[in-house]
Amino acid sequence: MLTAGVLISGTGTNLQAILDRVADGTLACRVAVVISNRAGAAGLERARGAGVATRVIDHRAFAGREAFDTAVVDALRAAGVELVVLAGFDRIVTRVLLEAFPSRVVNIHPALLPAFPGLHAQRQALEHGVRIAGATVHFVDEQADHGPIILQGAIVVAPDDTEESLARRILDIEHTIYPAAIQLFAEGRLVVEGRRVRILGERPTYDRLLPTW
Ligand code: GRF
Repeated sequence: MLTAGVLISGTGTNLQAILDRVADGTLACRVAVVISNRAGAAGLERARGAGVATRVIDHRAFAGREAFDTAVVDALRAAGVELVVLAGFDRIVTRVLLEAFPSRVVNIHPALLPAFPGLHAQRQALEHGVRIAGATVHFVDEQADHGPIILQGAIVVAPDDTEESLARRILDIEHTIYPAAIQLFAEGRLVVEGRRVRILGERPTYDRLLPTW
């Protein structure tokens, strides 16, 4: 079974969604460790509640990003991690992590990439006036919010949406597509071909829910 490690910095609702899917048997992986760069991250409690080992590695204790990533890689390797899941992790990762886990680091971003990378993606989308918003699960490369896309989920922007209401509905989508994407990885069904990710076998369940094509 796939062994995953989750990196967080805050609330950890995506972590919770992953742990819930593991618990109900729809995500066939084991979360071996949850690592936070912030001691106060609420997600650490969620991990403990699920009986998952936690580590706090404070980035401020290191001289730079690469030294911090080296400590993170050591902790991930010690836990036997095969897939690194970034879930609200607020540090930019370096080649130290990416070279230790090639094509084995995934992230979720609350926008339909390549639109609105970076901070406050939901606000960017609202201010831009888009009609469709959503979330993206992607492999991580050296550019932030940029690597090959695995799954996306979309919602319609309501006329009275605020940044908060939009973020809440996008988060619901995130909680569906992130475990689904990890399950595809666990089944060995993701083939990275340049920028594109081919999904082997049947269309993912999430795609089949969308009223398109
Ligand atoms: C999510 O919106 C995710 O897309 C972004 O950070 C947020 C983390 O939320 N990368 P949570 O900690 O999983 O609740």
